[in-house]
Amino acid sequence: MPDHAIRTAVIPAAGLGTRMLPATKVVPKELLPVLDRPAIDYTVAEAAAAGIRDIVVVIAPNKLALPAYFTRRPDLERALDLRGKRELVKQLAAIGCGCRVRFVEQVTPRGLGDAIARARGLVGAGPFAVLLPDVLIDAVPGGLGQLTAAFDGKPLVMVHEVDRDEVRRYGIAAPDPRRPGCLLDLVEKPRPEDAPSRLAVTGRYILTPEVFDSLAATPPGAGGEVQLTDALRRLLQAGRPVGWRRVRGQVHDLGHVAGWLAANLAMAGRRGLLPAADDAPIPSAEVAVQ
Ligand code: G1P
Repeated sequence: MPDHAIRTAVIPAAGLGTRMLPATKVVPKELLPVLDRPAIDYTVAEAAAAGIRDIVVVIAPNKLALPAYFTRRPDLERALDLRGKRELVKQLAAIGCGCRVRFVEQVTPRGLGDAIARARGLVGAGPFAVLLPDVLIDAVPGGLGQLTAAFDGKPLVMVHEVDRDEVRRYGIAAPDPRRPGCLLDLVEKPRPEDAPSRLAVTGRYILTPEVFDSLAATPPGAGGEVQLTDALRRLLQAGRPVGWRRVRGQVHDLGHVAGWLAANLAMAGRRGLLPAADDAPIPSAEVAVQ
């Protein structure tokens, strides 16, 4: 039986974070918190829960806060220990979920496809996962776990349904009506009238090494950037199969202010950090001016 184990995950984190500026001028968007944890923590935890032990994060040269976040701070751990804060020490030591986390630079922001190409030398010869850290999937099993369970050796993309006016923000899947679970086509950020469906790529992929040659041959597409969607489309056009699976769970898009806020509120609700809607105090003008 072929070995379909996925051991490595690539997390592209080199983007400019333009939709969250000025917050992302100094703090990488992957480190913006959802409740008390940076967004990328959820991504790493999802990968680790799917059995991944090796993580490659693609960063821009000015995003050194990311490697710093995954580096132990013995001074801080000692200071907390002296104050008896053992639980916090444990939480700090658990950053990275026991995975080996390595970093590679994308010097020029040429797009998601180009960022994935930078990881070529570190992913090895087998299949690998890609997780976009601005998508938070609240699900058990996790998003990537659902995808690895369905992986049979062919590249796979995870999708979820979006409203018609949202298709222009995503890669959109065209399922093959004759081959269940297989794609006919993929289109990056189409206009609603051109979209082949409302199934948006969720930012979770399992790819095989052949994608690297396809990426190398892919010219810039939507937004003038090299798109992973276009490289997968090239594989489809060359007759290579690419599968799709629908995510089971709640998908949060942290890449824009409203989505990030909605994710915080949903996660806070789940952790019991918010009063139930009926008990919430109604803000009044008098309270506001006091
Ligand atoms: C990227 C991908 C897109 C995918 C989306 C998910 O777009 O290019 O296909 O649907 O992530 O969030 P971006 O959000 O980087 O513009």
